[in-house]
Amino acid sequence: YRPMKLLIMNGPNLNLLGQREPSIYGTGTMETYMAELQKLYPAVELEYFQSNVEGLMIDRLQATLRDGTNGVVLNAGAYTHTSIALGDCIRSLACPVVEVHISNVYQREEYRHRSMISAACKGIIAGFGLHSYRLGIEALLKD
Ligand code: DQA
Repeated sequence: YRPMKLLIMNGPNLNLLGQREPSIYGTGTMETYMAELQKLYPAVELEYFQSNVEGLMIDRLQATLRDGTNGVVLNAGAYTHTSIALGDCIRSLACPVVEVHISNVYQREEYRHRSMISAACKGIIAGFGLHSYRLGIEALLKD
């Protein structure tokens, strides 16, 4: 029996969660939230990866082809709206990827309404604060 392995990935500027625009993204840090998530899902192996560098995100996503990862919860930050490379990368993976956003991007600027990764993802969750990640995990567990 191998435990389910999920990768929670954050893109650029999300290392500043808790201090970055708290009126939009809240005051909680990802480190604290990851500990909460791991307690909620003791039987699931959760790995957290954050990078401000697009290529490092792609390298880590490609590694899921070899490391037994069963699914990815991905908040690609602003790369969501710009990165054809991330979209291509997701399309080349074997495991499902759920796109998540802390904020409801559709209530915000027009340039946040377009996503270069949505079509490559299994589904999209946006607007539920940090709980967007938990909903992403739920979606993958029901897969
Ligand atoms: C975000 C929304 C993006 O538009 C923004 O660039 C982010 C965070 C969110 O989680 O709400 O960095 O992905």
